[in-house]
Amino acid sequence: MRIGVLTGGGDCPGLNAVLRAVVRTAEKQYGSDVIGFRNGWRGLLEDDAMKLDRPLVNGLLTRGGTVLGSARVAPQRLRDGLGRMREVLEGHGVDVLIPIGGEGTLTAAAWLSSEGVPVVGVPKTIDNDIDGTDLTFGFDTAVSIATDMIDRLHTTAESHQRVLLVEVMGRHAGWIALNAGLAAGAHLTITPEEPFDIDEVCRLVTARFDRGHRHVIGVVSEGATPLPGTMPLRDGGVDEFGHRRFTGVAQQLGEEIERRTGKEVRTTVLGHVQRGGTPTSFDRVLATRFGLHATIAAHEEQFGQMVALRGTGITLFPLADAVAQLKTVPTDRLEETAAFTG
Ligand code: F6P
Repeated sequence: MRIGVLTGGGDCPGLNAVLRAVVRTAEKQYGSDVIGFRNGWRGLLEDDAMKLDRPLVNGLLTRGGTVLGSARVAPQRLRDGLGRMREVLEGHGVDVLIPIGGEGTLTAAAWLSSEGVPVVGVPKTIDNDIDGTDLTFGFDTAVSIATDMIDRLHTTAESHQRVLLVEVMGRHAGWIALNAGLAAGAHLTITPEEPFDIDEVCRLVTARFDRGHRHVIGVVSEGATPLPGTMPLRDGGVDEFGHRRFTGVAQQLGEEIERRTGKEVRTTVLGHVQRGGTPTSFDRVLATRFGLHATIAAHEEQFGQMVALRGTGITLFPLADAVAQLKTVPTDRLEETAAFTG
């Protein structure tokens, strides 16, 4: 069998570990070969391919990023290009494609699958917002990085009796904010799932200082928004991929807190540092298991599925169902932060 792979969308730690697992499983267990398409779906549309073999993937387990490169491609270009993708796959004699990616990549995978192309998906994203899987790899690494950074902010915040806000990634879902906030003992966690009330935020800040505490640490997801009509948030419009352009919610929230409470506020935006560097051991294992099981599923012709973590086991989940909605943080998980807020 010949397997095609690609890594699409924003990169995340563990992509290389999946590639290594796919190649090793394909070659060693099945005598199959693997070719990779560079820069996500763009490589498939532009027929930009490279052979992936064991010497090439040696040493990739711990390496962040993706040796195949990654890119975002506009949804319309993907829809229009399904026929072209099929042609390129046939031209290379690819029997099954394993696209590794987040919502956008897996949506295109589901389209391709519905056109009859054999596909087995692998979910990835630091945001952890793919439905059908308990976790995606990259998330644990991002939370670990964010936690380390927030840990460091406590001492400087206390020294200066400041409010320190940390903006973390999380476009539609607040999983990183929730977990890093709990792990690092944040006093305030603001996620996209629940628009924040600036009055309530300022009340919490003031009350905490009034109780004699010397600092406030707040974690804010980049996708958070204020309750309508409560405070302005600059509108950045929408980019070519249909994504809202962020304008720095934590910075704007911080300015408002400072104005209303008189407390000094500083903001740290963690940005892409959360996506860079080596994966945690948890993500190396999850990525390796996803690569292994995707390759097994490919050989067993379980097409139109994506590998998924359920409990401690790896299962298969229909691609079309996985991309039907995003997995946001449920209310009961958000409520768990109440005891630690303020
Ligand atoms: O989807 C993962 C993610 O890291 C989001 O949290 C973030 O909004 C986005 O990617 C950033 O994408 P880019 O690297 O294209 O700016």
